[in-house]
Amino acid sequence: MIIRDRSMNVTPYSSGCGALVSGIQLATLSDNELTSLRDAFAEHGLLFFRDQELPPAEHLRFAERFGSIVINKFFKATSDFSKIAEVRKEKTQQTNIGGGWHTDHSYDEIPAMGSILVARTLPKTGGDTEFANLAAAYDALPPAMKKRIANLRAVHSNEHLYGENGVYRHTDLAEQLGGMDRVGDATHPVVIKHPESGRNVLYVNPGHTIQFEGWDFTESRVLLDELYAHVNQPQFTCSFNWLPGSVTFWDNRCTWHQAKNDYQGEARLMHRITLAGTALTAFSFKLLLALLSHSYLLVLSF
Ligand code: OGA
Ligand code: MN
Repeated sequence: MIIRDRSMNVTPYSSGCGALVSGIQLATLSDNELTSLRDAFAEHGLLFFRDQELPPAEHLRFAERFGSIVINKFFKATSDFSKIAEVRKEKTQQTNIGGGWHTDHSYDEIPAMGSILVARTLPKTGGDTEFANLAAAYDALPPAMKKRIANLRAVHSNEHLYGENGVYRHTDLAEQLGGMDRVGDATHPVVIKHPESGRNVLYVNPGHTIQFEGWDFTESRVLLDELYAHVNQPQFTCSFNWLPGSVTFWDNRCTWHQAKNDYQGEARLMHRITLAGTALTAFSFKLLLALLSHSYLLVLSF
């Protein structure tokens, strides 16, 4: 009997954002499939899967095969799995988690590498998650803007969201959030070199970035808003419509996401596992200039 390997297909989801992976089951990946999946993840930074059979224990097993897990300080865990966070909205709640553009954990000194989100309870319609591709957005910035932001660093925080006077504390989500006393911030380069793909990525996000280091708040706001308007364009963004069995795996270093809140009166529950990353390093604009001027000198010397 000939047993054929299942074949994994990776096709772009939209012209500039995400890829749909088919032909595999995350719960029973072979080692070769896992390697191919790592390549696809490094290339696209955002993978969508349909029709997965991935109960919580398998969700956890897949995550552990891919990397090491970090625990979110603010979300409640499921009752059976301390490493799986619940992203929950009850029928009666108005506010949702992650309703504005953000990237997970950018407020950490070593931000999370990625998040694996699995649909558990879905509203009849709505509740999509939108994504943006920050590597493509960086590439498309005008050269003058690339130069302007090349050596900047930015402060990322969670206090304005989860702290004592944070936005969520005044909403009907407050009850289900913990970690009020564990808020904090970190600074990161505004343009990072992606640890796996080597691409330059714009690393600021509306949810957590407060200001540029050494700039005042208002001055920072103007430039941040300009950058955000650039990212939030159709050629860098896409929307994922969840169905039972859907899974999304995004790279927090090169994407943004936001959860649409267009299903009032219905419940939605997602399970999230967050994977640990590495410290972020700046893309070196000076090095690029040095290399360019070096090759220019070489050309002149012939
Ligand atoms: C998250 C998040 C979006 C969603 O889990 O980090 O932002 O659509 N979720 O639930
Ligand atoms: Mn999120």
